[in-house]
Parts: sequence; structure tokens; C-alpha cells
Amino acid sequence: MKGIILAGGRATRLRPLTKITSKQLLPVYNQPMIYYPLQTLLKAGIKKILIIVAPDYAGQFLNLLGSGKEYSADFSYEIQDQPRGLAEAFIIGEKFIDNDSVTMILGDNIFLGQDFFQKIKDFKSGGMIFAKKVPDPGRYGVVEFGKNNKVLSIEEKPVAPKSNYAIVGLYTFDKRISKISRGLQPSARGELEITDLHKYYLKKGELKVNIFKGIWEDAGTFDSLLRVSNIVAEREKAKALTKPQK
Ligand code: DAU
Repeated sequence: MKGIILAGGRATRLRPLTKITSKQLLPVYNQPMIYYPLQTLLKAGIKKILIIVAPDYAGQFLNLLGSGKEYSADFSYEIQDQPRGLAEAFIIGEKFIDNDSVTMILGDNIFLGQDFFQKIKDFKSGGMIFAKKVPDPGRYGVVEFGKNNKVLSIEEKPVAPKSNYAIVGLYTFDKRISKISRGLQPSARGELEITDLHKYYLKKGELKVNIFKGIWEDAGTFDSLLRVSNIVAEREKAKALTKPQK
């Protein structure tokens, strides 16, 4: 299993914080944002990781993360010159993915108390995504479930969401993913949509949708960035209190 961290984009919503650096390098309490998705992949046992970044601050990612040796892992880097959509990552990463399965995590998605490590380790084929109940599903990809949790539909940022289940930014696909991504057409907003990949596997009856039970935040707005920083701070302080005193 290979790993991709998608950390490109322009992050205009976080200006002026992102005027001189990338969103994924901003602090989330005591660590740069990208450390969290990186730790998620490493905890799932993924050691070969491709980090896809925007051209402007590529050097900063390299300075921060290096070769991966420090983590007993192997990092490589690619540039996405324009934010043409999440699914483009599988085209950019085609050579890297080669004949393996791949888990992609968004560089601004923070998972705490993850319960998906075993599921990633056990993955065999098809596509696997995770959904979580949220109060504001219209901001995300949304899954509609029917009887016996059968997936009825998947929609990207629907105006009238059919459920409260948002698709979180961690996706596992088999080796077909680059070829399938190359066959996508850009959506009305001009992007290669990750939800079109989910729909492709769903149509073939090969999409597994799990419910994610831990804490999940997309740290892409001022409010969510502050919220997740506070959550991490609380957890760190609670951890320090339970540590045995020397
Ligand atoms: O956070 C989960 C959601 O992520 C999913 O529920 C949606 O289905 C999915 O489309 C995505 O929605 P967002 O609105 O959060 O996508 P956004 O355009 O903000 O991009 C997510 C991250 O990926 C962000 O950190 C920037 C980066 N990105 C985005 C695009 C479009 C890239 O690196 N390259 C890109 O081309």
C-alpha cells in the first residue's frame, strides 16, 4: 500500500495566513498541519508516501519533511501546478502508485482517535471511503444510505443534502485508480472530482463505505482551524496530566 498526501491548492479562504506559505504548513496547536495526515498514514503502516504540493512553497515542504528517513519512511514529492481537482493526484502519482493500492489523505484533514488503521491494512481491492455524521453536510461529498446501510447515492456539495453523512478526506483505491482518473471529465467547477471516482466504484458494486467514529476536522477555514487547534491542545494537556511524574 502506497500513500499520497495532497497538499496543494491556493487556500484563498485562509488569506492573509496563506499569503507567504501553504495552508498545510500552518500550525495546528503544536505541530504544522501536515504532520497530522502524515502521522495518520504512518500509523496505518504506510511507509512510501508521495507529497503533492503547489509550486510556490514546495521548498518549505522539503525543508520540513525531508526524505522521510527520520520517520523510517520514504517520501517523494510532486508539484501540482494548478488546483485541477483532487482526482488529478492519481494522475500525477501514476508512476509512484505503479501496481499497488493507494491511500490518499488530504493535507488539511485531521483525524484524531482513528479507527481505520486495520481497515486500511486489510484492504484488498475496489474503493474504500469513510463517512461521518456532520451538521453541515452541504460543504462536503455526501453519502445517502438506504436499508442495511446500502449506499443509494453520492453527491459533491449538494444544495439539498440527502443525508448528514459527509465523506472524509481519506480514500483507499486499488491499482486501477490512475487509469480511471485519466478517464474523468472536469465538473462544472472545472475540477476532476474525487466523488466521480467514488461513483465509478459504486456503480461497479466495488465501493465500501465505512462510518468513521473518531474526531475529524477539515482545517480549511478560520473557525475549523481554531476548533481543531483547541481540540489538540485539550488532548495534549490531558495526556500530560496522565503521564507518570518523574
Ligand atoms: O474534506 C473532505 C472533502 O474534501 C470531501 O468531503 C469532498 O468530497 C472533497 O471534494 C473535498 O472537498 P473540499 O471542498 O474540502 O475540497 P478543497 O477544494 O478544499 O480541497 C481539499 C484539499 O485538497 C485542500 O487542502 C487543497 C487540496 N487541493 C485541492 C484541489 C482542488 C489540492 O491539493 N489540489 C486541488 O486541485
